[in-house]
Amino acid sequence: MNPPQVSNRDRIAVVGAGYFAAHHLEAWRACGAEVVGLCDIDLQRGESLAARFGILNTSTDAAQMFDDVRPALVDVALPPAAQRDVVMAALERRIPTICQKPFGRDWAEATAMTEAATRLRTPLVVHENFRFTPWFRECRRLIDAGHFGRLHGASFRLRPGDGQGPDAYLNRQPYFQTMPQLLVRETAVHFIDTFRYLLGEVRAVTARLRRLNPVIAGEDAALIVFDFDDDRTALFDGNRLNDHAAHDPRRTMGEMWLEGEAGVLRLDGDARLWWKAHGQPEQLHTYIGGDAGSAKGAFGGAVTALQAHVLAHLRAGTALENAAADYLSNLRVQAAIYHSHASGVRVVMADFDPSGP
Ligand SMILES: NC(=O)c1ccc[n+]([C@@H]2O[C@H](COP(=O)([O-])OP(=O)(O)OC[C@H]3O[C@@H](n4cnc5c(N)ncnc54)[C@H](O)[C@@H]3O)[C@@H](O)[C@H]2O)c1
Repeated sequence: MNPPQVSNRDRIAVVGAGYFAAHHLEAWRACGAEVVGLCDIDLQRGESLAARFGILNTSTDAAQMFDDVRPALVDVALPPAAQRDVVMAALERRIPTICQKPFGRDWAEATAMTEAATRLRTPLVVHENFRFTPWFRECRRLIDAGHFGRLHGASFRLRPGDGQGPDAYLNRQPYFQTMPQLLVRETAVHFIDTFRYLLGEVRAVTARLRRLNPVIAGEDAALIVFDFDDDRTALFDGNRLNDHAAHDPRRTMGEMWLEGEAGVLRLDGDARLWWKAHGQPEQLHTYIGGDAGSAKGAFGGAVTALQAHVLAHLRAGTALENAAADYLSNLRVQAAIYHSHASGVRVVMADFDPSGP
């Protein structure tokens, strides 16, 4: 078998030319990487996006494109139902691959892709970008610097305000209307990952889910309580109907409070961080990237940061975050949340089998 391809390290092939692929292409441009091929089963979509980004090679068949352009990295921006076959085709060619979340149709597909990556010794990373936002990076930096003293909890209030009425999501992500599981699988999963990034591994979850907008199939509101080691807890309180005070409610998607014995750090809707030392007035906390406007790309440059992080791994062997095997932890917690809602019980992760009925 051929060794993993390491030459021409910045030659990228992108699969999928829909709404979010445009953000990936902007990010590759910002990274200085060359996109050498773009594939979409909808030829016109592929060609129109390729023309916008000056990509010379377009295709409707991902595996054929991999053989034609021999990329160093495959970037899969497909819906979950289409991900497994394309990811497998890339891994079988031993091409390092990034796969968008949700990672496959279900747990079985996610584990199959992960096992293939391990067996073929080929990097597979899930495109889970929220932890790469400059504001969550700064939270992590402050935790590591001991800023909070003993950290004991977080609360995120998600209010993007884009889910009201019969036309909810139709202009941007129409598939949101028909997904049988929406808020947790599509959106709260970002915060499962972010909470794990900030607070450590999840030990138990308790969830109550609701559907507020009757035109959609899945849930669009959730209250989730997370337990972590050292008696840390987090609350995710989310709905997609209401908005919050922000110039763009989808920039941070909501507001967060991160608390330790020394004080409270608050993220506002304009991506500002405010530090309130215990017993003192709240003060603006400036940070690198905190003034990032939309010019930095989606979510304060998080898409670019994630993609740059994978390129750095290929170029210099730096450690990967959210490699597929690690990402399965998020999917286990996600499954436990749905199970908690359905059963009405607090689910202890050590006792939970996500492949169960
Ligand atoms: N990480 C994030 O922040 C974030 C944000 C938005 C979307 N997403 C995820 O990105 C993925 C794509 O979302 P989107 O909004 O761009 O979807 P989309 O429907 O706009 O685009 C998907 C594209 O894939 C094409 N396609 C489907 N099957 C294919 C195949 N086998 N080969 C080639 N092309 C194929 C379709 O023709 C379509 O153009 C979803 O999984 C979504 O959840 C992630």
